[in-house]
Amino acid sequence: ARSIGVLTSGGDAPGMNAAIRAVVRSGIHWGFKVMGIRKGYNGLINGDIFEMSLRSVSDIVHRGGTVLQTARCLPFKTEEGIQQGAAMARVFGLDSLVVIGGDGSFRGAKDLSAHGIKVVGIPGTIDNDIGCSEYTIGYDTALNTVQDALDKIRDTAYSHERCSVLEVMGRKAGYIALNVGIACGAEVVLLPEKKFEFDKDIIKPIIEGRNRGKKHYIVIVAEGVGGAIEVATEIEKITGIESRATILGHIQRGGSPTVRDRVTAGMMGVRAVELLKDGIGNRVIALREGKVVDIEINEALEMKKDIDDNLIELSKILSL
Ligand code: F6P
Repeated sequence: ARSIGVLTSGGDAPGMNAAIRAVVRSGIHWGFKVMGIRKGYNGLINGDIFEMSLRSVSDIVHRGGTVLQTARCLPFKTEEGIQQGAAMARVFGLDSLVVIGGDGSFRGAKDLSAHGIKVVGIPGTIDNDIGCSEYTIGYDTALNTVQDALDKIRDTAYSHERCSVLEVMGRKAGYIALNVGIACGAEVVLLPEKKFEFDKDIIKPIIEGRNRGKKHYIVIVAEGVGGAIEVATEIEKITGIESRATILGHIQRGGSPTVRDRVTAGMMGVRAVELLKDGIGNRVIALREGKVVDIEINEALEMKKDIDDNLIELSKILSL
C-alpha cells in the first residue's frame, strides 16, 4: 500500500493531536499505511517511525501538546540532514509526508520534496504567523488561554488600582497581543509590527485615561517587543501608578484545544490526505477567506500577511 508519514515539528500547539488523528483516520480510510514519526524531523533522521492504527489515535482529540512529540531540528536545516531524512524515508517505504508545524517546518518539507517525497504542510502554531493562511491550528486555544489569564489579572489590577503589564507569546507577530487586547480591553498594546514611542504611545494614553476617571490599566506587550518588566518599571516611575509585570510563558502553548482548533485540524488533516490520495504533493493547506484551500509550497512560503490596521485603530477606540 502507499504510505504516509506524519510528524509535528517546531513549537507544539493545541489541536496538533486532532490534526494527527485526522491524518491517521482519513489516511487509513483511503487505504494508506500511516506511519507516525516521533520528535519532528529528528525522528525521521533517526528512524523513530512506527505504524499507526485507527485506535492509536483514540482519546487524543481533546488533548493539548502532541502525542508524536516535537522538536526544532537543527540538522534538518543542512543538506546532509535532508539527505539522511530522505534515506530513512526510503528505508521505511514512505512516499509521502504530512508536516504539521510552522514556516520553518515547511521549509524542511520543501527541501525533502526535492528527493521525490510528496509533502503536504498543515499550519500549526499558536502564533498565527504563517503568511499563506488566515488561521493556524492552536491560535484560538492560545487566545482563549491568554484571555482567561488577563481577565484574572484585571480582577487584581482593579482591586489594587494598578497598571498590569502582560507579555504574551507570538514570536515576531502581534496577533495574540492585538486580539486579546481587544477582547480584554487593554489600554495599550505594543506590537512588533508597529513602531511606538514610550511617551506618546504608552504614558499619554494612561494619563489621559486617568484624567477621564480610569483607576487601573492593562498594557499588553507582544514578546516580539519584549521587556514587560522594564515597561512596568518605567510606567511606575513616570506616572506614579503602581505597576506589575506578568510574563505568561508556556501556559499559552498547552491545554485542551477549542472547538475551532479541533474542527480546523480535522478539516486540514483530511484535506492533506485527499491531496495525497489524488497523487498531489508539495502543497501547504491554508485557510483563505474562511475556506480550506491548498497552495504550492514555494508560493506558500513566499506569501506574507499584514496585521490589520483597522483592528489596531479599533482597539484604541474601545479602550478610551
Ligand atoms: O512558536 C510558538 C512559540 O511559543 C512562540 O510564541 C515563542 O516565541 C516560541 O515558540 C518559544 O519557543 P520555545 O518553546 O522553544 O521556548
